[in-house]
Formats: sequence, structure tokens, C-alpha cells
Amino acid sequence: MTASETPSAGPRHVLVAVAWPYANGSLHLGHMAGAYLPADIFARYHRISGNRVLMVSGSDTHGTPITVRADQEGVSPAEIAERYHPEFLAYWEELGISFDLFTSTMTDNHRDVTHEMFRALRDNGYVEPRTTDQFYDPVAERFLPDRYVVGTCPHCGATDARGDQCDTCGKTLDPIDLGSPRSKLTDAAPEMRPTEHYFILLSKLQAEVAAWLEGREGWRSHVINWAQGFVKEGLHDRAITRDLAWGVPLPDDAELDSPNDKRIYVWFEAVIGYLSASKEWAQLQGDPDAWKAWWEDPSAESYYFIGKDNIPFHAVYWPAQLMGAGTLQLPTNVPANQYVTFKGAKASKSLGVGKSVLEYLDDYQPDTLRYALATNLPEYNDVDLTEDEMVRRVNDELVATWGNLVNRVLAMTNKNFEGLVPEPGALDERDHDVLATVDARLAAAGEQLERVELRAAVKEAMGGAQAVNIYLNALEPWKTAKTDRDRTATTLWTALQAINGLKVAFAPFVPFSCETLHTLLGGEGELAGEGWRRHEVAVGTALGAPTPMFRKIELTEA
Ligand code: MF3
Ligand code: ZN
Repeated sequence: MTASETPSAGPRHVLVAVAWPYANGSLHLGHMAGAYLPADIFARYHRISGNRVLMVSGSDTHGTPITVRADQEGVSPAEIAERYHPEFLAYWEELGISFDLFTSTMTDNHRDVTHEMFRALRDNGYVEPRTTDQFYDPVAERFLPDRYVVGTCPHCGATDARGDQCDTCGKTLDPIDLGSPRSKLTDAAPEMRPTEHYFILLSKLQAEVAAWLEGREGWRSHVINWAQGFVKEGLHDRAITRDLAWGVPLPDDAELDSPNDKRIYVWFEAVIGYLSASKEWAQLQGDPDAWKAWWEDPSAESYYFIGKDNIPFHAVYWPAQLMGAGTLQLPTNVPANQYVTFKGAKASKSLGVGKSVLEYLDDYQPDTLRYALATNLPEYNDVDLTEDEMVRRVNDELVATWGNLVNRVLAMTNKNFEGLVPEPGALDERDHDVLATVDARLAAAGEQLERVELRAAVKEAMGGAQAVNIYLNALEPWKTAKTDRDRTATTLWTALQAINGLKVAFAPFVPFSCETLHTLLGGEGELAGEGWRRHEVAVGTALGAPTPMFRKIELTEA
């Protein structure tokens, strides 16, 4: 839905749903640029605009990424998740990623909401038990997950290939493809045995998903094209339970053999986290129905901030789950990002590439790190980021253009007008023009933010700052201060108004400094709810003492 279609009554309700990181390792800049920072920029834009934002996510604590790590360390999966969850909370705090709730999939609430959706799908005829043949370890007396079956790779002949993938040649496998399969647990030869699992009948939902995708507007082409192509190839019914001991348990009324040895599959359950977190947030507000404004009202909007590897789960499977369960709103947009790489290597925790997020804060302020990433978001292509590029963005753009503009205008006002916003004379064309430029840039940034074109939006903000610098260089208030006090007053009044407008445009990207600037310019409270527009700073407002907003990055050669 676009802004113009929104009913004029009341603020818009915008759900900002952010990928749940596996709580099995530290996060790196690639994760920040891929999902968390863009989600936060978008949420802040809507909050400033006066809309009701609910931004949720949490630690994804289930699945093989967690159990493999736990096995390696010989600790419980819960211990791994409990180690990284607080680390994630520290990132959000340090970088100003403003979640309304960042919870985890280990809560009772999440289990209950998962069961509700499971039952709704089953009652509507979209989930049913089926019997399949699976490898069973007769010594350990349990079914084996794919990656617990090892054997000879049919492609390269490696003898230690796993049932899900061969690490030697990288090919994905099915356990049945392996030569001389054996159990990773006991080395026993596994046998095929029938086991019962619940399946989601995606084949029944295929036509509805395809029709819905057909009607999406404003989606990134790489997302919509991929999703449509995928659905066209045919959606297959998928098992949503596994023979595992770690994960969300089955509901009490599950009708499967040995239900206690089974768990709900992580990819069915983690996406339900968006809903369970919204409900948990409502509980914490003391208003248990508050989540409904984002999930049941057809005018509500929802945006899912994810990396491209998550597209199938958010653009196809999650919408199918929502359709099958009924009554809940489908995604408005899934603005998935591509990857940030560092000299060709994907900046992900699995590869351990790059410094951890908190290590960057030794050199960067939160705002300068945010700016370096925001100007390099992988919105359409993979971005190969270098430290030189990050430093250039901060030093040559943020500090030299915007930071310097603010500093010199505040300093000149302090020096010449005792730190009070001066009374302007009649504005001439140059004054009107620069304010019109700022207003146009601010409006354009808002339009780009609506479309989740965040790089384009921050460019508008910086373009506005450049225009004000050009204006000052033409008017030279540092020279006129000695000769023409009235002209100087008009110039500085104009520049202060311009900065106050650009502050709004920059705020989603560099919120810490913009909140400070807001206060320096006489603003009360926070920027949220101020409206996406330039407010006039009143004549006579006492400006706070300016300190440089940003520190340049001085990298010492290693
Ligand atoms: N933890 C998974 C990943 O990092 C899934 C994230 S999104 C979710 O890829 F909603 F499914 F949890
Ligand atoms: Zn192989």
C-alpha cells in the first residue's frame, strides 16, 4: 500500500519484521548492512513521520546451526543460545538498532503461538501426518537427521560426505545418495524405517500464493522474480517436523508415533516469531490485544528485512503459512538485500570474516559506522566493501560536508549573535532557493524511504547539505559579519532553518547526532512524531554550545 491509499484516519501501522539471527555466533557488518541497519532506518523514518511502528525480531535458537555448535563444544544448545542472545542485545544498544522487542524462540509464548498456527493450518486442511522412510540408527535407537548420516559422495568420492552436503565438493546431497552410509553417532549401518511426520500441503496453496505474488507492487525485482520463478516450478508438500530432541515440541494433541522424539522444524517455527514477538510485546505493554492493529487490520503494513538467502522463507513459505492459517495480514513488502562482502569473501559469521561489530566501535562512533554502511547497502547487488571506502564515506562526506556545515553555522551564530537565532531581514531569491532545495530534498528522501530505497534517501540528505554549503560559500557570512550585520543575520537564519530541515532527513541514518542537534536547535523531546518536514526555529532561540558532531576516522596502519 502506498501512502496515498492509506485511510486518512489516524497514523499508519507499520510492522518492521527483521530476520531472526541464529544465536550461534557473533554478528558482523554483513549482517548489519543486510538486515538490522536498513530495518532500523526504515523504522525511524516512520516514527519521525508520526506512524505507529512495531519493530520485532529475536534470537533464532533452534535448528542445526545451534546443535552443531553445541555438539562441537560439548555443551547444551540452550547454553549456546544464552551466550549469544545478550551479545546481540549489546549490538542493538550500541548501534541504536531500535527494536520494540528483541526476544527469542525459546519462550513459552513462542511455543504457544507456534502451536496455534499449527492447529489453524491443520484445522483448515493444510497440515496432515504422512509416513516417510528415513534412516534409523539401530544401535542408538533413533532416527537420524540428514547431517548425521555420513558416507561416500556420489559426485567426488569423498568418504566423509554428510547426508545434507559434501564439504569436499560442496554439492548438496540427500542421505539416500551416499555410498556405504553409516551413522555419525555410532558408526552403525543405518536402516530405512518408516516414520510419521506432519507435512504442510503447499501444493494446495500454490495457486493462491502465485496469484498473490502476481499482485505485488513495488517489490525489488530480484525478490519478486525469484519468488515467482520458484512458485512456477511447483510447490511441494514439505515436512514440518523432524526427528530431533532440540526445538519447539509438538502440541499435546499431535497424532504421530513417538511424538516426544520429534520437534517442529525450525523454518516452520522461526518465521512465526514475527507474530509471537508482536503478541509478547502487546503483553508487555499491558494491552494483550495491541498486536492486532499490525496483523489483523487490512490497512496495516508489514515489511520484512532479510538477506537474500531467506527469500524463499519470507516471500513464499511464510505467506503460504499465513494464507493457510487465515485472518492474518500478508507481507506488504520483502525488501531483501544482497550480500556485503569484504574483498570477495561473504561477511558472515559462518566464515568468520571481518571484525565483529563491537570491534569497529573502537574506531567509529555509532553514527559514523551507520553512515559508512548506509551508503553501501547491498540493495541491488553484492557490495564488496573495503575499509578505505568506509573511511572515505565518513571523512569526505559525513564529516566534511554535513558535520562541518553544522559546526560552522552554529559557531558563527555563537560568535556574532550571542548564540541566539538572529532576526532575519527580507529574504532574497538565494535564501528562498536554498530553503526550497532543502524542502525538496527532504520530500524526496521521504519518498525514497517509503520505497525502501535507503541509499537513494541518504544521498538526498547529503545533496541537501552540499547545497547549503554552496549557499554559504556564495554568501560568505564570515566576511559579511564585518561589514553587513543585517545580511549576516539573514544568511545565518536561513542556514539554521536549512540545517533544521536536513536534520530530519539525516535522522534515520545518524540518529544519535541528530537527536543532539535537535536539542541544540531548541527542539523539545525526541524527533519521533515531529513529522517528516522542516519546522521553523524561532528567532531568539538560544542555541546550545556546539561540539563537533563526528570524529574523523584515523586508521593506524597495522
Ligand atoms: N536464523 C535464520 C537465518 O539467520 C532465519 C532468520 S529469519 C526467520 O537465516 F524469521 F526465519 F527467523
Ligand atoms: Zn563430494
